[in-house]
Amino acid sequence: MTALLDAGERLGRDELEALQLERLRATLRHAYENVGFYRAAFDKAGLRPEDCRTLADLSRFPFTVKADLRDNYPFGMFAVPEGRVRRIHASSGTTGRPTVVGYTERDLDTWADVVARSIRAAGGRPGHKAHVAYGYGLFTGGLGAHYGAERLGCTVIPASGGMTARQVQLIQDFRPEIIMITPSYMLTLLDEFERQGVDSRSTSLKVGIFGAEPWTEQMRGEIEDRFAIDAVDIYGLSEVMGPGVAQECVETKDGLHIWEDHFYPEVVDPFTGEVLPDGEEGELVFTSLTKEAMPVIRYRTRDLTRLLPGTARVFRRMEKVTGRSDDMVILRGVNLFPTQIEEIVLRTPGVAPHFQLRLTRQGRMDALTVRAEARAGASTAEREAAARSIAAAVKDGVGVSVEVEIVDPETLERSVGKIKRIVDLREAR
Ligand code: DLL
Repeated sequence: MTALLDAGERLGRDELEALQLERLRATLRHAYENVGFYRAAFDKAGLRPEDCRTLADLSRFPFTVKADLRDNYPFGMFAVPEGRVRRIHASSGTTGRPTVVGYTERDLDTWADVVARSIRAAGGRPGHKAHVAYGYGLFTGGLGAHYGAERLGCTVIPASGGMTARQVQLIQDFRPEIIMITPSYMLTLLDEFERQGVDSRSTSLKVGIFGAEPWTEQMRGEIEDRFAIDAVDIYGLSEVMGPGVAQECVETKDGLHIWEDHFYPEVVDPFTGEVLPDGEEGELVFTSLTKEAMPVIRYRTRDLTRLLPGTARVFRRMEKVTGRSDDMVILRGVNLFPTQIEEIVLRTPGVAPHFQLRLTRQGRMDALTVRAEARAGASTAEREAAARSIAAAVKDGVGVSVEVEIVDPETLERSVGKIKRIVDLREAR
């Protein structure tokens, strides 16, 4: 096993921390000297890059948020001349200007390395074929997975998202061992396998590398069972790099090892911004350690998780992301995440693993309807029992009353990429 690890993965914890500090100090200097935004932010806080003498000193530096990237649209956060930028990606976001990110040649190289490392941790090996069904384009998923798989020595099938019937055909004909895809789109493929009368457990696939959206242990169980594969989690965000910031190891499946030699994590209290000790849940914050084109200092991801010690690797782990603070619904004072509903729906007999959350306003109160899809052939009695069971489980487990509607099979919109779980009808009223 050890022979397969790259040099970064073989570091001892002390060596890793020394490397992190050296890279952190260089990154702070690079950002301060080359990006007006960081220079102004550090000056305002009365800090110079040299004031970071230990890893803990980073907590004195100001945060960066998504709005800072938008305000500096399109290239204001770049720390190198535009001629040195080899690639641009952007995330559309729901409102306003997209967030733009850039990569130098060396950044693209680093990115391919961390994705290759991720695929290897997932169980992928040189010579395997990797079917990439993350979208290609400005989204980082497709191209990020693509170059990482090539770097590892895999044969890449650049399927991108969509044309679901063709995806199933390609999987049968080209016989890939690896699939890289959002978990919700994998469920859409599952429907298509069924529609074509093909046994989804009989494919060549061995490993699925799923990310770009939150998913639960229940979803892992469903996917592993229906496809007879190992399902592991990959995490990342465009502002920090793209996919390959953290990856779950197939041998432990116990959360995601953060590639800490390139991305320095902190977890902070989402309200006060105070750094929390490892083990406590809060908002994940990243500082890039090796990026040239667009270094990020203390970037607030809005993703909620906690840091845990390393197991299969020297790097610390992050627990599977519970959700984004933006996706948290506050219902009569109770915080609710779509992943909590996913856990419940997926263990309820009679319903398919497809659901949607509909938010409405009744008088002055917000109300939530869980719309879950009946399994094909479920009887009326089974559907009613499922509705009662979901409502009771949400009341017990989350502590709030919701309406449950069991809809007919194949009526909820299917995902072809990142799924949108919440339909907010409150404004419309
Ligand atoms: O989603 C990068 C990516 C592509 C990751 C493919 C993994 C696989 P963005 O479009 O910038 O980048 O969205 C980043 O997606 O802040 C999380 O909220 C969410 N996210 C990404 N991976 C996971 C995951 C890509 N494994 C945002 N679990 C992040 C939960 C995830 N949420």
